[in-house]
Amino acid sequence: MSEPSTPLPAGLFITFEGIDGAGKSTHIAGLAEAFRLQGRSVTLTREPGGTPLAEKLRALVLGEAMDPLTESLLVFAARRDHLLNVIEPALARGDAVLCDRFTDATFAYQGGGRGFDLATLSVLERWVQTTPAVRAPAIRQPDLTLWFDLPAEIAAARLADARAPDRFEAQPVAFFRRVAAGYAARAEAAPQRFARINADQPRERVWQDIVDTFARRGWWPGTPVAPGGSH
Ligand code: TYD
Repeated sequence: MSEPSTPLPAGLFITFEGIDGAGKSTHIAGLAEAFRLQGRSVTLTREPGGTPLAEKLRALVLGEAMDPLTESLLVFAARRDHLLNVIEPALARGDAVLCDRFTDATFAYQGGGRGFDLATLSVLERWVQTTPAVRAPAIRQPDLTLWFDLPAEIAAARLADARAPDRFEAQPVAFFRRVAAGYAARAEAAPQRFARINADQPRERVWQDIVDTFARRGWWPGTPVAPGGSH
C-alpha cells in the first residue's frame, strides 16, 4: 500500500519576490503545477491584486502618479482585502497559497525604491496582517518567501525587450538597486522565512534551486513521508 504522498503542513503560504525582470513568473506557474499534480489544492494569486477591489487598486498603483504614502496606503489596502477574502480562507481550507509578491515588495519598492519611512510601513504591516486566524501578537506572515535575487543591471537588460513598462518598470536602474537592497535587508531580518534564489543562472538551474529549497523543508510535492513521521 502506498503511503499518503504529501507531508506538507496544512495551509502553506508561499510568496515570491524580486525586482522586475528577475524571472519569477514561469517558476510560480511550474510550482503550482507540481503541487496540483500531487493532488494538492493550490490558490495562485498576486499582489497588488487577487480580488476585484484589489485589482482596481492595482490599476491605480501601476498607472497613476502619486506620493509614496498614498502608494503605500493603496498597496496595503489592497493587501487587507486580499488577505481577508482570498488568502486566509484558502489557508483555512489547507491550500498551498502561491502569491506573486506580498509585503516584502512594499518594503523593497516603497521603502527601498521610493525611500519611504520603514517604521510607518512596519505599523501598516502590523495593522493589515493582524487576522483572526493568527493569535496576537503574531501576525500573518508567509511560511516561505522565495527571493529571486538578480543584479539590477541584468534585470534591466532583460526588461528592455519586454512589453510597455508600468510605473515601476519604467524606473532607472538606480531605483532597482535600492529595491534590491530593500529585499536584502528584509531577508537579513527574517532568515528563516527567506530563501534566496540566485536568479542569475539558466532557468533550469533556478528551478533546481527552488526544488532543493522545498525538499530541504520536506515540502517538495511527492517527497516521501519519513518512516514514523506524522502527517
Ligand atoms: P509585477 O508583480 O512585477 O507584475 P507584472 O509581472 O505583471 O509586471 O508588478 C507589480 C509591480 O508593483 C512591481 O513593479 C512591484 C510593484 N509593487 C510595489 O511597488 N509594492 C507592492 O507592495 C507590491 C506588491 C508591488
